[in-house]
Amino acid sequence: MYTLGIETSCDETSASIVKNGSLVLSNVVSSSINFHKKYGGIIPEIASRRQLETITQVVDDCLEKSGITLEDLGAVSVTNRPGLLGSLLVGISFAKSLSYALDIPLLGIDHIQAHIYANFLNQKPIRMPFVALIVSGGHTSLFYVKDFDDFKLLGQTQDDACGEAFDKVAKILGLGYPGGPVIEKLAAKGDPYKIKFQCSGTEKPLNFSFSGIKTAVLYYVRKQLCGADIKQISDICASFQESALEVLISKSMVACKQKKVKALLVGGGVAANGRLREKLLERGAINNIKIYFPTKELCMDNAAMVAGLGYQLCKKGYRSSLYLSAEL
Ligand code: KG4
Ligand code: ZN
Repeated sequence: MYTLGIETSCDETSASIVKNGSLVLSNVVSSSINFHKKYGGIIPEIASRRQLETITQVVDDCLEKSGITLEDLGAVSVTNRPGLLGSLLVGISFAKSLSYALDIPLLGIDHIQAHIYANFLNQKPIRMPFVALIVSGGHTSLFYVKDFDDFKLLGQTQDDACGEAFDKVAKILGLGYPGGPVIEKLAAKGDPYKIKFQCSGTEKPLNFSFSGIKTAVLYYVRKQLCGADIKQISDICASFQESALEVLISKSMVACKQKKVKALLVGGGVAANGRLREKLLERGAINNIKIYFPTKELCMDNAAMVAGLGYQLCKKGYRSSLYLSAEL
């Protein structure tokens, strides 16, 4: 069965065709990021207006690339939570009209769960249960997953998301938006142990907190950074990144031990970070936990993960009605 996925929860407009929940035939992603750059973050009104303008073309392109037609579709799957209200509504309205016109099932999908599902795309199936770590610009969460409709939240950030902390630190250092890729690049040239930046503790052991470390970077920069040279900035990036990633890794290992599982699936934009991938693989090997990552492209927001999860839920008998709406 061919599923069309639609993803418009943040700045991206994406459409994808996935065969039988696994094989990605096409995955078109159009981002409005360049329109937001000068503001240092996403402006919701700009995002939804761009999505309205581009969605038809993006869906057309994704159909053309996949080599199938609308009549071949078995279901349409769309992110309906969480995200920016106006943006979500663009995708949902488009998906509803297709579902109605083609008389095919409609599936409303949780964006975070879809990020976890990205690990199942173009890969062999993974045995359940497992623990999943989702690290993106809006979320940092650990889940215990028993099935595609059975996700138990183990912990989450109490304040900033990990990707958000990367973005804010980049802003403090004047490195632009988004912060993750540029911080990773500079961190590779810096000393990760030069400055002691630490994430704050949390009452619940599997929760996260990233707002303290971001503030620590801010104070450090204000106090120490006179003539900011590239070596100093690289050391700040490396030291911040190392501490932030270490917290993700150690809590993920604790969660796997607590739930007695031998597999950790990672997803979300921060999962594209090469240092995180390297460190997690090392730590997984030590603890006998197999680590799974999507390809870097599928770590980012995309509609293939939405199509894939939609297929699995459709197979289980789930259907959304035409009253489907956005949930924040
Ligand atoms: O999953 P995503 O594309 O969108 C959300 O659902 O939020 O994630 C975007 C986030 C941004 O905060 C960005 O800075 C971060 O992922 N990111 C990275 C890297 N690439 C993207 N963070 C660290 N290292 C990276 N290489
Ligand atoms: Zn995302």
